Amino acid sequence: MAIKNILITPGDGIGPEVMAEVSKIIAFLNTEGIASFSVTERPIGGASIDAHGVPVTDETIELGKNADCVLLGAVGGPKWDQVDYSIRPEAGLLKIRKELGLFANLRPALVFDALIDASTLKADVIRGLDILIVRELTGGVYFGEPRGIFELPNGERQGVNTQVYTTSEIHRVARVAFELAQKRGKKLCSCEKANVMESGKLWREEVSKISGDYADVSLSHMYADNCAMQLLKNPRQFDVIVTDNLFGDILSDEASMLTGSLGMLPSASLGARDHAGHQNALYEPVHGSAPDIAGQNKANPLAAILSFAMALRFSLDLSSVADHIEASARAVLDRGIRTPDIMAEGCRAVGTTEMGDAIIDELKTRLRKAA
Ligand code: IPM
Ligand code: MG
Repeated sequence: MAIKNILITPGDGIGPEVMAEVSKIIAFLNTEGIASFSVTERPIGGASIDAHGVPVTDETIELGKNADCVLLGAVGGPKWDQVDYSIRPEAGLLKIRKELGLFANLRPALVFDALIDASTLKADVIRGLDILIVRELTGGVYFGEPRGIFELPNGERQGVNTQVYTTSEIHRVARVAFELAQKRGKKLCSCEKANVMESGKLWREEVSKISGDYADVSLSHMYADNCAMQLLKNPRQFDVIVTDNLFGDILSDEASMLTGSLGMLPSASLGARDHAGHQNALYEPVHGSAPDIAGQNKANPLAAILSFAMALRFSLDLSSVADHIEASARAVLDRGIRTPDIMAEGCRAVGTTEMGDAIIDELKTRLRKAA
């Protein structure tokens, strides 16, 4: 069995706790002889600032480029809120995304039947929801120059960020979205603000230009503000949404709430495949470091575990195990086992580690049955 190299960067807050549950699953798959994973662990974010003075080291970036995939927990916390932007925990995350060329960020939002009442939206609106947001991740206003806070001659201060996209940046992320749509419901909705922004007009034109290569996918365009509204009004009209870095950040948080809890949402960030077939990839839960509940065994590890399932599917060549992990999550939720963020009447409240154990027990049964 080919050895696969995994870099784990647990990060801050609840990051280490949820990643410990992923590590348990990795160890289990190794012990069962289902996989041969070699794991390296490095700090990122605040943990890296404390250890090395920077939110991510060059060594960690190199390890990430050479690994089959990176599994990240979360970064940030009040302890590092006062430091300069360039060395904040978040800068470590942005740097590893940029340096690994992870331009396509896949954020699926799936409603589990067992959690239908955890959402603030009516069950009728979200039942069976299955959408995928493809967020551009290495361009736009997050990285555009010029940026900064400048002094004007009149003594005022001016904050500047720049939204910028080139045709190739738009094409490559749109192609990923079209290809994913081909494997799903064959509908792609592209979101921007072409009514006010030149970068949005270009986005719309360029996405349309390449749509001819995907004749089986029906393409629509929507202004991002309307998309925010439609996500609440009738979210099931969407299959795949492709959008820029900032709109994708906002719309994916909104979409997460359709599913009931931010604690359920996985993500994959993918780069281009090189000539040798290697593709840089990083998997992380969409939730943040949640410092308020860190270290208390309260965090929901399912987003991290479902992110690992995405890694198994996209980077580690173990789609069938990914299917089993997703089915295990569904089964455990159906049995009423709940972390506090998704707790409901009549269910059994468990902590982070118990939820991880429940997934492994279920996975064990399923894998043995399948063998
Ligand atoms: C996300 C987060 C990050 C982002 C932060 C932590 C830098 O909100 O992954 O959605 O804005 O991209
Ligand atoms: Mg965000």
